[in-house]
Amino acid sequence: MSPAASPELRLVLAVSLDGRLAPAEGGAAQLGGAADRLVLEEALAWADAALVGAETLRRHGSTCLIHSPALLEARRSEGRGAQPIAIAVSRSGRLPAALPFFRQPLDRWLLQAAAVPGPTPPQGFDRHLPLESWPQALGNLAALGQRRIAVLGGAQLAAALAAEDLLDELQLTVCPRLLGGPHGWLPANARVAPAARAGWRLVEHRALPGDELLLRWRRPGAQGVTS
Ligand SMILES: NC(=O)c1ccc[n+]([C@@H]2O[C@H](COP(=O)([O-])OP(=O)(O)OC[C@H]3O[C@@H](n4cnc5c(N)ncnc54)[C@H](OP(=O)(O)O)[C@@H]3O)[C@@H](O)[C@H]2O)c1
Repeated sequence: MSPAASPELRLVLAVSLDGRLAPAEGGAAQLGGAADRLVLEEALAWADAALVGAETLRRHGSTCLIHSPALLEARRSEGRGAQPIAIAVSRSGRLPAALPFFRQPLDRWLLQAAAVPGPTPPQGFDRHLPLESWPQALGNLAALGQRRIAVLGGAQLAAALAAEDLLDELQLTVCPRLLGGPHGWLPANARVAPAARAGWRLVEHRALPGDELLLRWRRPGAQGVTS
């Protein structure tokens, strides 16, 4: 779980009954229905920023936005930006300028491993931050005012955070699909930090229209703000 100087991290995914986040053949997953879309938007409305793996962006082309007028109005009335900051996570920095992501109405930050940010961020980004280690990067984000972070996947990004016990909450929408194949929401070779292997407390379960089930688990002692 994230240390005190870190933001609170909530992993938000739609998964199949057999725990996959993408179809066996891979590619952009569209697992959830309209109800999942709304709980995803609720998580985005909770968040100051959203972390998304570069491969998810390359495959989907864009990231999720809040569209619900009620959620947009709630953020506006709290003096928050309409959308959480979208933080792309990458080593390579390979995010083609033609991706629709770069035309979405968002603040875009790039969190990049093995990179020394220069004085100006790469084209399309408002900020370029180094990812030397996750504790360093998350501490940096907290110092920049990002206290609540939705982690939007994919599996590699989820695994990197689980390996260091940095996820405070898991919000999974279980969707009535059986997908098979290799694309579990944690990769088969994922190494989960020993402290993160047990002790998750179920803090929410909600049947959603369309035979979907929202489940939210939280680690005891996870800091921060839960609404
Ligand atoms: N069902 C859902 O809710 C859901 C949500 C999201 C995604 N998905 C699915 O998941 C699949 C994509 O997931 P994925 O696991 O292949 O990829 P991913 O986690 O989205 O992205 C992997 C890439 O992110 C960067 N990255 C991840 N961890 C990093 C770290 N610790 N340090 C530096 N960079 C890091 C690297 O980018 P570079 O390659 O640029 O170096 C890496 O190749 C797609 O099929 C997508 O549809 C499903």
